Amino acid sequence: MTSHTNIADLSLARDDEAVRDLVARLSPETLVRVNEPLAKRTTLRVGGPADIYTEPWSEKDLKTTVEFCARHRMPIFVLGRGSNLLVKDGGFRGLVVCLAHPAFCRVDVAGSEIRCGAGARLKAVAAEAKRRGLAGLEFLDGIPGSIGGGLRMNAGAMGEAIFNRVRSVRLMDFEGRVEERAAAEMKARYRGCGLLKDHLALAAVLDAQPGEPQAIERRMREFNEKRWRSQPAAPSAGCMFKNPPALPAGRLIDELGLKGTRVGGAMISFEHGNFLVNDGTATAGEILKLIDLVKNRAWVERGIDLELEVQVIGES
Ligand code: EPU
Repeated sequence: MTSHTNIADLSLARDDEAVRDLVARLSPETLVRVNEPLAKRTTLRVGGPADIYTEPWSEKDLKTTVEFCARHRMPIFVLGRGSNLLVKDGGFRGLVVCLAHPAFCRVDVAGSEIRCGAGARLKAVAAEAKRRGLAGLEFLDGIPGSIGGGLRMNAGAMGEAIFNRVRSVRLMDFEGRVEERAAAEMKARYRGCGLLKDHLALAAVLDAQPGEPQAIERRMREFNEKRWRSQPAAPSAGCMFKNPPALPAGRLIDELGLKGTRVGGAMISFEHGNFLVNDGTATAGEILKLIDLVKNRAWVERGIDLELEVQVIGES
């Protein structure tokens, strides 16, 4: 849940005038913080602060915010639930916007269509579908992200990906213009979405189909059991690398004998080779060194160029 923060209560880190100007244009319900730690907002739990962090209360406030960034040429980053994100130790010079306000987290069902706000948790969407006897979205249950992040990454699991189920997406460009696009126009691909590189997702309509409640429940349970068996519980960003065409990255890292390899508090999980876990003491720098080590070994020993799935932002 968000709470309203009065900017006057905060000591502003930089560009005070600009921030005051922004806050003056926003409704009091919109949360704005300066120098906000990001580590706690990511599942990897590393990285430095954002200069400005905001949770808009409405599309209007979001539009005001993106216009502010465009006017001040301030970098903007859209944060989901931080489950596929590595923030560097120096933090992010710019504004981080997160659609976590309840206004962006609605999940509304009409027939077999589910309209979800970008801030809605994938788990909440799967739960609502199950409650309404709608099948096809069970795979979303164990993905620790939001609809917005899920769309941006075309998140997937269990042989499914979210864009297989998307009918349309409501988006905003970085000048504040809003439009609705059919899924086919979104340029979705494996773990990515072309249009969401320069647009923010505001909401999406997902398609499900009527299903037998017990079968839905059973599928969810099977998926979760598979996940618990094969994936670590320690803090991580999920799979670190995209699966290359030749073989799954997790198997490759396993075959290279790298499980358990450490750089400081960062370690390659024993449970799954494509998970880099934080033992609670890792820095972003250590995780980045471990990434380099893996990439280097995969290239030198197997000629495979591993590509990061996790997004990296900020400065060292
Ligand atoms: N494997 C190993 N050793 C390991 C890990 C995996 O030999 O350490 C083998 C497995 O036995 C299996 C194969 O590699 O034969 C693939 O492993 P798994 O079934 O775990 O799937 P994956 O391709 O590694 C993908 C997604 C996951 C998703 C799972 C389950 C990618 C990069 N990863 O993993 O998504 O949860 O399928 O459906 O596409 C994520 O995107 O962050 C993520 C975790």
